[in-house]
Amino acid sequence: MIEFKNVRKVYEDGTEAIKGIDLLIPEGKLVALIGPSGCGKTTTMKMINKLIGLTSGTITINGRDISEEDEVELRRNIGYVIQRIGLLPHMTIEENISLIPRLKGWKKEKYENRVDELMNLVGLEPETYRKRYPLELSGGQQQRVGVIRALAAEPPIILMDEPFSALDPISREQLQDELKHIQNSIHKTIVFVTHDIDEALKIADDIAVMRDGRIEQIASPGELVSSPANEFVRSFIGEHRLDEGKKEMSVLDIMSEDPIILEYDESEFESIPHDATVAEAAALYVSKEPPILVVTKEGRRIGSVSRSNILEAVASKQRREAQSQ
Ligand SMILES: Nc1ncnc2c1ncn2[C@@H]1O[C@H](COP(=O)(O)OP(=O)(O)O)[C@@H](O)[C@H]1O
Ligand SMILES: [Mg+2]
Repeated sequence: MIEFKNVRKVYEDGTEAIKGIDLLIPEGKLVALIGPSGCGKTTTMKMINKLIGLTSGTITINGRDISEEDEVELRRNIGYVIQRIGLLPHMTIEENISLIPRLKGWKKEKYENRVDELMNLVGLEPETYRKRYPLELSGGQQQRVGVIRALAAEPPIILMDEPFSALDPISREQLQDELKHIQNSIHKTIVFVTHDIDEALKIADDIAVMRDGRIEQIASPGELVSSPANEFVRSFIGEHRLDEGKKEMSVLDIMSEDPIILEYDESEFESIPHDATVAEAAALYVSKEPPILVVTKEGRRIGSVSRSNILEAVASKQRREAQSQ
């Protein structure tokens, strides 16, 4: 059981991301955190494995205050799945899945059996896939590996931050079904962040609807639909539910936290405020680079291709592919 008591988070720049929340996540249940972009879902989740420190209040896991727990130890006992998979590209699928079991000192035979068992669980034939590298798998397959990697060391708690939102609709539905199926047999305590109410209604035991750093309502899917606590919850599960997250997708949702880039000489990079949207980042990106000249074999310039030309072409190709599926 995970319990938040009057938890607040104020970031260093003064942003009050979490404004005092109480939240109970019962043992063995899947609780979805849902709400518009920027409402504090990721912050709430990352406080559980101490990727983000809290400003005041307490979080306990089975009655133990996490502020007294060792971070490394805590994280090895909490599985974590994020939107952009985070598989290590230079390790095979088998090495990726067995990473934490190996760190924990499991014997070879035990972790190899575990890898087979987990791969079978999500329909990835071990013979075919265990020696492959992440980039040799499709996006949906990589995300399956991300999910089973989080399960590998049998952690009692799993955190999932929009794990399926970068996938095409068909893979997303399949993974939701698989997660539900797996959860029916393993009964882990799962905190699942999403901005897709249909996803939350489908897979969660309880749903916490957040707005602007607060929790508006916590209820079972049935209860939420039949008796929303207020107008915000009603409209969130109602009409504009599907595009809420997409419309306002923030740079934080697509950001990669690669420490190597952060240490790189920053003068070579454009920067953008953390509260910018993806559309704003795209506009900056498109505007910054001179176009690429298209030349004939003789070197005569016949035209140019700009970033926006390229992005539009790729986007419209993807739309066509999505439609023809
Ligand atoms: N490192 C940071 N520094 C300052 N503000 C931040 C930081 N990370 C997130 N925020 C802000 O905190 C709020 C909540 O963000 P987040 O938890 O990522 O929301 P969500 O996951 O619901 O989209 C937003 O206003 C966001 O801009
Ligand atoms: Mg988020």
